[in-house]
Amino acid sequence: AFNLKNRHFLTLRDFSPREISFLLKLSTDLKAAKYAGTEVPQLAGKEIALIFEKNSTRTRVGFEVAAYDQGARVTYLGPSGTHIGHKESVKDTARVLGRVYDAIEYRGFGQKIVEQLAEYAGVPVYNGLTDEFHPTQILADFLTMQEHVEKPLHRVAFAFLGDAANNMGDSLLIGGAKMGMDVRLCAPKVCWPQQSIQDEAQAIARGTGARITITEDVDTAVAGVDFVYTDVWVSMGEPKEKWGDRIKLLMPYQVNAAVMEKTGNPRARFMHCLPAFHNTDTIIGKEIQAEFGISAMEVTDEVFESPASIVFDQAENRMHTIKAVLVATLGA
Ligand code: CP
Ligand code: NVA
Repeated sequence: AFNLKNRHFLTLRDFSPREISFLLKLSTDLKAAKYAGTEVPQLAGKEIALIFEKNSTRTRVGFEVAAYDQGARVTYLGPSGTHIGHKESVKDTARVLGRVYDAIEYRGFGQKIVEQLAEYAGVPVYNGLTDEFHPTQILADFLTMQEHVEKPLHRVAFAFLGDAANNMGDSLLIGGAKMGMDVRLCAPKVCWPQQSIQDEAQAIARGTGARITITEDVDTAVAGVDFVYTDVWVSMGEPKEKWGDRIKLLMPYQVNAAVMEKTGNPRARFMHCLPAFHNTDTIIGKEIQAEFGISAMEVTDEVFESPASIVFDQAENRMHTIKAVLVATLGA
């Protein structure tokens, strides 16, 4: 019923609520088929370029395994080794890759870059994360939410705590508004999404019945929610000098056991797009501990490792939902 062939996926704006629901249903079907061993490859002979100007674990493996499961092939173009943006313009690169590939994934910096690729490539372009948006993540998050509550998305309430002025805040706001959800962003004002994104979300909400709350108050934000979501306080591409300021600013928004308790919902689940700073088992975690004396930032290890945490379901669902996007936009 839905023909999404040759469509780009640059932000959640690219698909209607019904198209998003269709992609989630397709993800569920593809996931079930993979588990049952009955998956039918629909992308034989397709070639997909994967451009990563920033690092990635989940998005890269999501695209690679989704493509291979479906019979397509990929070329990984990492942060160094190509001419993109250094010796060759985005516009020229787009026209070259569009001659060789059937689709292009791009992770990098400005949203303008992925938009320019889409304008000139002549093949579908997918946003694998920019400074402003992370749309494929949101599909995985919504699929995961659906798997954990027995109600439709438009009855779901979630609170995002932390740095809401980034790709995740923007994308959850627009995505939640589109699906008619009870969306709560909770952060100090300086970490709220830009006014234009807030206005856009409010306008979408008027059509879908979504409720949007943007607040500095944790109690208001988390009361009665089904899901508490957070993300790193310093995103890729931001200088590490930001850590000090963000820790001071955002520590009251850390997701810990007390915050989960404040939901008043014993079945509330914890979500995070990952990677997360919940312990000191990483190089950066050790640096932060040495400099600031803390062992966790946006979420405590206790919550991250608790039965309420569904972060690895989200991570797995990246692959199934990316596969749905590939099949819908490139399949026969
Ligand atoms: N959540 C996410 O996009 O993870 P990666 O940076 O590992 O791709
Ligand atoms: N806001 C984070 C998301 C990582 C998936 C970042 O951009 O680094």
